[in-house]
Amino acid sequence: PGGSPADPWGGAPSSAHEATMTASLAPLPRDFLWGVSTSAYQIEGAVRDDGRGPSIWDTRCLMRGKIGTDETGDVACDHYHRWPEDIALMRELGVDAYRFSVAWPRIFPRGRGRLNPKGLDFYDRLTDAVLDAGITPWLCLYHWDLPQALQDLGGWTNRDCAGWFADYATVVARRLGDRVKHWITFNEFSVFTMFGFAIDWSAPGITDRQAHLKAIHHVNLAHGAGVDVVRALVPGAVIGAVHNRQQVFPEGELEIHREAAALLSEHWNDVFPDPQLLGYYPERTAQAIEPYVQAGDMARICRPVDFFGLNHYGPIFARADPTWTWGYAWGDAPEGRVNPEIGWAVFPEVFRDELITLTQRYGLPVYITENGCGGGTDAPDASGAVHDPHRIAYLKLYQDALREAMAAGADVRGYFVWCLLDNFEWGSGYAQRFGLVHVDYETLKRTPKDSFAWYRALMAATRAGE
Ligand code: NOJ
Repeated sequence: PGGSPADPWGGAPSSAHEATMTASLAPLPRDFLWGVSTSAYQIEGAVRDDGRGPSIWDTRCLMRGKIGTDETGDVACDHYHRWPEDIALMRELGVDAYRFSVAWPRIFPRGRGRLNPKGLDFYDRLTDAVLDAGITPWLCLYHWDLPQALQDLGGWTNRDCAGWFADYATVVARRLGDRVKHWITFNEFSVFTMFGFAIDWSAPGITDRQAHLKAIHHVNLAHGAGVDVVRALVPGAVIGAVHNRQQVFPEGELEIHREAAALLSEHWNDVFPDPQLLGYYPERTAQAIEPYVQAGDMARICRPVDFFGLNHYGPIFARADPTWTWGYAWGDAPEGRVNPEIGWAVFPEVFRDELITLTQRYGLPVYITENGCGGGTDAPDASGAVHDPHRIAYLKLYQDALREAMAAGADVRGYFVWCLLDNFEWGSGYAQRFGLVHVDYETLKRTPKDSFAWYRALMAATRAGE
């Protein structure tokens, strides 16, 4: 079981729609957990409502050229006002769980100090309504929207940021911990640290090796502090973190490309889960990060957690380029493997391998906290329906790979689709649509896509033991 290891330069493209849409999937355990994910800045809008302070993403969206389309999250899906409709959609979809994030700048408009009760009230109402709909809330404390006032003090390059995060986590855990039992400290540590501090693709857009190393260590400290806070304040809490892990393939055989890919892989895949779960930094990073590590830090970072959250979409292709901060650059996927509707190469076998690898490496139950695909062209047809066969084909291939991984011993307990709604896709603005539900950004009308019905049927079949 498990098949042969992934070889992105060999084999046939795995995007044959017809074949995958008709083939049936092997059954999963009946109690397998099904969900959908979102994040605050990407869907809420209402960035100035009820006392919310600015975040580093509000700042970035105002910088010309940083968002492909010069768009902002000011309105997004207007979920801040339309959440009852969105919860009704989830009820109709039939998910067990909803993963969302709390916006730190709604709770502390300046990151620390004065608390904003209206921000807490919003998540309080949301939590109650999610529970009333029979859906389990999975709360993520940090999905990239650091309060700008903290960035002005150095943000994650400042060691104090770990303490500010712990204070924020304390307030949220005290308010919601009686009802929310599933907690995630951070979403995709390596994406926001690498793209925010080494490659200028995310806020705050710094490109500096030392800043990147400091951010890595301080975010790790914040994670450890967050776990301790939630453990102490929330009886029966189930706590984890969301890591993005995906294999990095060198673009070509040359040694320089292989070295570049190895360093990129370490920064992308290992510098967070290794210290958090194994207690040490991986070999290429251990020495470089030493100036920022104080006595006792590794014990502060390595706190017991209950699950491993995995976000996975596809592999990375890397090449050497000395003009980039660390000498690694993003490469191109093998020719002919890019799915034109999705805009990236589809490699479910890499997902399968990752699930097996991480079960062996970290020994924790795994929840797939994000998987899904974008594509820019989803739109209602003349009858108002939104057909997205490319998304159904993608999800199905990944569902197959998930079953292969489980048959090979991967301990996967649940799966969340990214995303419930089309939304603000960071540097791509609104040009990438990841939703099971289409959002018309003029009218904010929501229309479930074909993939919505497909996912509902998949969940129902699993519960029926089919
Ligand atoms: C990962 C991130 O967590 C999420 O914010 C993003 O929109 C999706 N992947 C899609 O790129």
